[in-house]
Amino acid sequence: MRALVYHGPGQKAWEEVPDPEITDDGDVIVQVDATTICGTDLHILRGDVPAVQPGRVLGHEAVGTVWEAGDGVRRLCPGDRVLVSCISGCGSCRYCREARYGQCTEFGGWILGHKIDGTQAEFVRVPYADTSTFRIPEGVSDEEALMLADILPTGYEVGVLAGGVRPGDVVAVVGAGPVGLSAITGARLYSPSRIVAIDLSDARLEAAKHFGADVVVNNSREDALAAIKDLTGGLGVDVSIEAVGVAAAFELAVKLARPGGRIANIGVHGEAAMLHLEEQWIRDITITTGLVDTSSTPTLLRLITTGQLDAKPFITHHFALDEFEEAYDVFARPEDTGALKVVLT
Ligand SMILES: NC(=O)c1ccc[n+]([C@@H]2O[C@H](COP(=O)([O-])OP(=O)(O)OC[C@H]3O[C@@H](n4cnc5c(N)ncnc54)[C@H](O)[C@@H]3O)[C@@H](O)[C@H]2O)c1
Ligand SMILES: [Zn+2]
Ligand SMILES: [Zn+2]
Repeated sequence: MRALVYHGPGQKAWEEVPDPEITDDGDVIVQVDATTICGTDLHILRGDVPAVQPGRVLGHEAVGTVWEAGDGVRRLCPGDRVLVSCISGCGSCRYCREARYGQCTEFGGWILGHKIDGTQAEFVRVPYADTSTFRIPEGVSDEEALMLADILPTGYEVGVLAGGVRPGDVVAVVGAGPVGLSAITGARLYSPSRIVAIDLSDARLEAAKHFGADVVVNNSREDALAAIKDLTGGLGVDVSIEAVGVAAAFELAVKLARPGGRIANIGVHGEAAMLHLEEQWIRDITITTGLVDTSSTPTLLRLITTGQLDAKPFITHHFALDEFEEAYDVFARPEDTGALKVVLT
């Protein structure tokens, strides 16, 4: 088969590799019908994720058709259309029993395109298939389902649920990339009174308006804290969601929360960020962090099926599987291309 192989920082190639094989009776082999690129793949290509070794097939998001199922697989048969989640879970360890699949101790969690070969390929081996894939209902397209492999559950679980968004809340989302926009989409399910999107990029803020932000602030030229104080009678927001992954964004997100407020960090941080405890100790704030579990995927899939959630606006570009070079280039330059999610089929 052909697959996108990582060859060390800055290097990747769409090339011939051996077909994946079932190595555990809980595995399935999925023929990839649609896959996409994540910001995390760009981090890998910059060499920021050393656990990814040269020779690894990239990608942790896919929709496909079961090609072959191991003897221990009970819920899936060849021909089934499935969502392959960015998180694999054994289903039985302590964390999986608490639906914290991201923390699975039996070689689950984020493994695809990280510790084992991933989804940017014609075929992929998916371990723990019964508890790591989701059957796609009729009426939901491949590309809509694909948005549930990572970004939508991430924004919803690590941003909206961890931040405890409630009706009437004022919610700030720092960073309006695909994950921040997913947090905006998820927050709207709880009828907040105001959603404020904060980003350095006007193109991303335009997208944020389209996804339901009531107010947008470009913090390359506006004082985001002053804008939030203005909007909230000097208090700050009820829930502040960080969806960037840089220290400045986390430190801003903390400042934006009102006393008693909640700060939900989603961003993957490669460097230390400062927590000014000398200012914050007195403010009754709660800070959460997390890796997505994808435990909300069935809920989000139902909301897409009934039309309460629209995944289509995330998809800005389409490519064929052998056009990965061009797809990565378009995805890596969102300011010029307007890219949110690119779909390869
Ligand atoms: N916790 C998890 O489980 C999980 C899962 C998936 C992704 N992530 C992380 O979520 C983060 C967001 O992902 P994405 O794909 O949307 O990334 P992205 O790079 O597409 O978007 C980030 C946005 O933040 C903006 N930004 C940069 N610096 C800023 C600043 N100082 N203030 C305000 N905005 C700023 C950028 O203009 C961009 O629009 C990344 O760190 C990603 O690795 C976390
Ligand atoms: Zn991802
Ligand atoms: Zn587990």
